[in-house]
Amino acid sequence: MAADQPGGASNAIRFVHDGRVVSADHLPPTTTVLDYLRETAHQTGTKEGCAEGDCGACTVVLGNLAVDGNRVEYRAVNSCIRFLPTIDGCELVTVESLKSPDGRLHPVQQAMVDCHASQCGFCTPGFVMSLFALYLQAPEPDRERVLETLSGNLCRCTGYRPIIDAAQRMGSYPPPPHWSREAARSAGHRDALRAIRRNRALKLPDFHAPRTVDELAAAMQREPKALILAGGTDVGLWVTKQLRDLPPIVYIGEVAQLKHLRRDAAGIVVGAAVPLTDAWGAIVAEFPELAEQARRFGSPPVRNSGTLCGNLANGSPIGDSLPILIALGAELELRRGARTRRVPLERFYLGYQQKDLAPGEFIVSVTIPARSARQWVASYKLSKRVDQDISAISAAFVVRVENGQVAEARIAYGGMAAVAARACATESALIGAVWNRSSVEAAAVQLAVDFEPLTDLRASATYRLHAAGNLLRRFYIEHGGGTPPTRTAHAAAASALE
Ligand code: FAD
Ligand code: FES
Ligand code: FES
Repeated sequence: MAADQPGGASNAIRFVHDGRVVSADHLPPTTTVLDYLRETAHQTGTKEGCAEGDCGACTVVLGNLAVDGNRVEYRAVNSCIRFLPTIDGCELVTVESLKSPDGRLHPVQQAMVDCHASQCGFCTPGFVMSLFALYLQAPEPDRERVLETLSGNLCRCTGYRPIIDAAQRMGSYPPPPHWSREAARSAGHRDALRAIRRNRALKLPDFHAPRTVDELAAAMQREPKALILAGGTDVGLWVTKQLRDLPPIVYIGEVAQLKHLRRDAAGIVVGAAVPLTDAWGAIVAEFPELAEQARRFGSPPVRNSGTLCGNLANGSPIGDSLPILIALGAELELRRGARTRRVPLERFYLGYQQKDLAPGEFIVSVTIPARSARQWVASYKLSKRVDQDISAISAAFVVRVENGQVAEARIAYGGMAAVAARACATESALIGAVWNRSSVEAAAVQLAVDFEPLTDLRASATYRLHAAGNLLRRFYIEHGGGTPPTRTAHAAAASALE
């Protein structure tokens, strides 16, 4: 695609790549960034491994103007599940971009070479780009930060140690003239994005990116069967893995009002276009107990594209944010045309993949109530792999104990039914009871009243029921319950796994 002068054709996708404004048009709106790079731009440094966001081989870095318009935020994303029109107005950085004009490798690349961090090399560009995004934020990261950054990158050759060594060495090289932290923050990158910033919606055949929530509401009223696209980390796989044709797409990522994230008297208000990275950041600031849940949600590239409201709207039975937001009493703001309404999240799900959402209606935001005093909060995820794995079962507990008695108990599970739901019989068994082992055991029995779990490839119904009880016991032990679980509880869960 020929490079375009800034301000070029209004309805071609426009983004900055290697300092040039590139216009891409006449491509289907579900063309992925990866396919554009490899098949249209013939830049094949970015690889395809899984085409579903799991392996990291396709990682690229996107620069977006921050909400205040004054700086560019660079984040790693999976290009294999990112549709090209959604990078309109962004800066695209690929592995070919990093080398200096004089041919010198970027410190990240040089460190990978010097630490022998590449064997077959297939995963390497993805690792380089994940580490490059980290380099721009923290060129001398600690091991923990490196492991967290790379949780979305798989390598089958190196055993990872040399890659981790390279990550912890990259900051020791002289900063490159090109793509140093300072250079990335220079006005040049910002101004290049300001120059292509749109004030009117991008409209392509079967793709519309409204700029305001009124425009979004009108678009959805005109075309109630249109597909709302947020981060595309669920929708992307419908195309790349299920090979589905999509209805016309209305992309909400450019709707200014949906990008707002604020903390007010009601609690944390997360707009529908707020990436998971920022949403989880705000939630963990209020509820530090949820840090592990946040860290184990997908990977950094998935959290940089995906949105919290997309997880809620997708409504998978094992959607990880659902149990904890239900237990915390979260509420959705929905809009259809000019009418808005509020729905408690726990009443939004009517059955498997059935939601209280009318045609043309969309989620504007989710509000998570502010923490109240003396609440114990926990969220647990059980999956086969720690990182980047789908839950077999997840559980969330919000309990308040006063004078030794349970004053409040809100308990929700995912993976135990067609939708994430509260364990009402279990809660009733606890409320008013003394907070001790026997009342917890009595409550655990009620889980079989609350749920009739399924057996599937991730877990058996027996395992799920035992594990659900054990997660309640774990919560008790971690919150004043002192005594370690009895052998029977562990043995029962272990036998269910055989
Ligand atoms: P999209 O894919 O854009 O949309 C998802 C659905 O929600 C679509 O039906 C869309 O129409 C609808 N939708 C989106 N926004 C709105 C709105 N405002 N109003 C109405 N409808 C809307 N999920 C987990 O729960 N836990 C995980 O650990 C996890 N790991 C993942 C790992 C990988 C590699 C991948 C690819 C996905 C993973 N996911 C996980 C699933 C996915 O990332 C999440 O569900 C994510 O939150 C979806 O958000 P999104 O913005 O990408 O939604
Ligand atoms: Fe595997 Fe994109 S190709 S994450
Ligand atoms: Fe071969 Fe990593 S070097 S997959």
